Amino acid sequence: MIDIHCHILPDIDDGPKTFDESMAMARMAAADGVAGIVATPHLNEKLYDPAEITRRVAWLNHLLRKEKIPLSIMRGADVSVVFKPTDVQGFTINDTEYIMVDFPHTQLPKNADDILYQFIVNGYKPIITHPERNPSISANPKLLLDLLGDDIYVQVTAGSLTGEFGKESQQCAQHLLRAGVVDVIATDAHSATWRKPLLSSGMQAAAEIVGIDAAQRMVFGTPVKIISGLPL
Ligand SMILES: [Fe+2]
Repeated sequence: MIDIHCHILPDIDDGPKTFDESMAMARMAAADGVAGIVATPHLNEKLYDPAEITRRVAWLNHLLRKEKIPLSIMRGADVSVVFKPTDVQGFTINDTEYIMVDFPHTQLPKNADDILYQFIVNGYKPIITHPERNPSISANPKLLLDLLGDDIYVQVTAGSLTGEFGKESQQCAQHLLRAGVVDVIATDAHSATWRKPLLSSGMQAAAEIVGIDAAQRMVFGTPVKIISGLPL
């Protein structure tokens, strides 16, 4: 499996503080069957140099090779819509056109469609992160369905499907699966102890709704295309 949303890099956001903690997450993910992780530190307060991500990814990959853990880490970011698309070129997934787009967690902005359109006209393929955890959308999933169009994609959190984020998020995630609009399941993990980098349980929960083939596509076939920059 490939996890395209994981806060695994140390000392850059509210994820792990040290490389030891990052390695604990990596061991846990690998044991769960994850072979690739896109490291997606928050980009939400101030713009920083994307080389901050590159350096940490390179060192973590070095540590993984040394410990012979069959997992590779790629560059990415969890990009808040407070930034203009023209300012975040260095923060796409594995240097493709795909980018994780994070709306405010309290509500969906009224101009969400304009924001997504701005990403598209600037050459990106936006992936909306965990809409099922946005209270505006979980109260009214049609708000999300109305936003979607060509080259706009949807990532749901594994823990939402297993109920870790509460009933509203779980029911919304299930609704989005039934509506056929979920492209990818990812962990949005932050730690090896509280928000863990586990993907298989979410995939299994999705399989109960959409069947095993479609659920596997959400954690393997589709994320492989995303990290390869291929069309979905
Ligand atoms: Fe995140």
